[in-house]
Amino acid sequence: MKAMLQVSRLGKSFGGLKAIDDLTLSVAEGQFLGIIGANGAGKTTLLNLITGYLTPTSGSIVFEGETIHGLPPYRIARLGIGRTFQVVQPFDEMSVLDNVMAGALFSRSGVHRSLAQARVESVGALRLVGLEAQAQLAAGSLTLGAKKKLELARALATNPKLLLLDEVMAGLTHEEIEDIMTVLRRIREAGTTIVMIEHLVHVIVELSDYVYVLNFGRELVRGLPDAVIELPEVIEAYLGAPMEAEGK
Ligand SMILES: Nc1ncnc2c1ncn2[C@@H]1O[C@H](COP(=O)(O)OP(=O)(O)OP(=O)(O)O)[C@@H](O)[C@H]1O
Ligand SMILES: [Mg+2]
Repeated sequence: MKAMLQVSRLGKSFGGLKAIDDLTLSVAEGQFLGIIGANGAGKTTLLNLITGYLTPTSGSIVFEGETIHGLPPYRIARLGIGRTFQVVQPFDEMSVLDNVMAGALFSRSGVHRSLAQARVESVGALRLVGLEAQAQLAAGSLTLGAKKKLELARALATNPKLLLLDEVMAGLTHEEIEDIMTVLRRIREAGTTIVMIEHLVHVIVELSDYVYVLNFGRELVRGLPDAVIELPEVIEAYLGAPMEAEGK
C-alpha cells in the first residue's frame, strides 16, 4: 500500500528533552490508525509536528508526495490535513454554527468558497456529529461532550483527506463515546483517512486497523490492535508507568 503520510526519522527536542525521538511511521490512504502511549509519550507533539504547529529538530514529513515539515499550519490545512485539539477552545460567544464556519472558510477549498457554501458544508458537518439542533447556541454554553463534537465538526468542515484526532473522547460519558464512535465510523466510510490518539484502549481496538504504541517519543511496538494491547511491554509502559509515577 502506498503511504499517504510518511513520517521518517522524526525528532523534536525541547531543550534536553526528546519529545519525539527517531520516529518513523506511515499512514496508508483509507486507513484508521490508532496511536496510544502514556502521558507525555509525545502523541500531541507528533500531531503538532504533522500539522505545522511545531517544526521538527530532525527528520521529514511527506504528505501525498509533498514535503510538508516547515510549512505553516494554514498551508498544511489547505493540503487536506485536518485536526482536532486535545484542549477544546471554541469561540465561546460565537454560535456553534459560526465556529464551524470559521473552519470551513479556512480549508482545502476554503479560499474559493463563498459564505453560503461554507454555511451549507458547516450545517452538514454539524448534522454528521449530531449537533444541528444546537447550531444557534453560543458555543460557550455547550457541555464538554457537545464541545468535543463541535471540535470534530470544525475539523470536518475543513474537508480533510486526512483527519488527526487528539483525544476526542476524553472526559465524555459512555453514551457520548458511543455516539462519537458511530460518527467516526461514518467519516471513515465516507473515505477519510483517520489517525486517532486515544487513551481509551477499547475504542482504539474497536476502530483501528493498525496501532502504534509510543513510549518516550519512540515507537515501542506496532501491529494489529488485538495483538498489540496484549503485549506485556505495552501493558507495562501504558498502564504501569503512570501508576508508578503517581506513587513517587
Ligand atoms: N512546548 C513544549 N515545551 C516544552 N516541553 C514540551 C512542550 N510540548 C510538550 N512538551 C513535553 O514533551 C513531552 C511530550 O508531550 P506531549 O504533549 O506530546 O505528550 P502526550 O503523549 O500528548 O501526553 P498526554 O497523553 O498527556 O496528552 C512531555 O514531556 C511534555 O512535557
Ligand atoms: Mg496529548
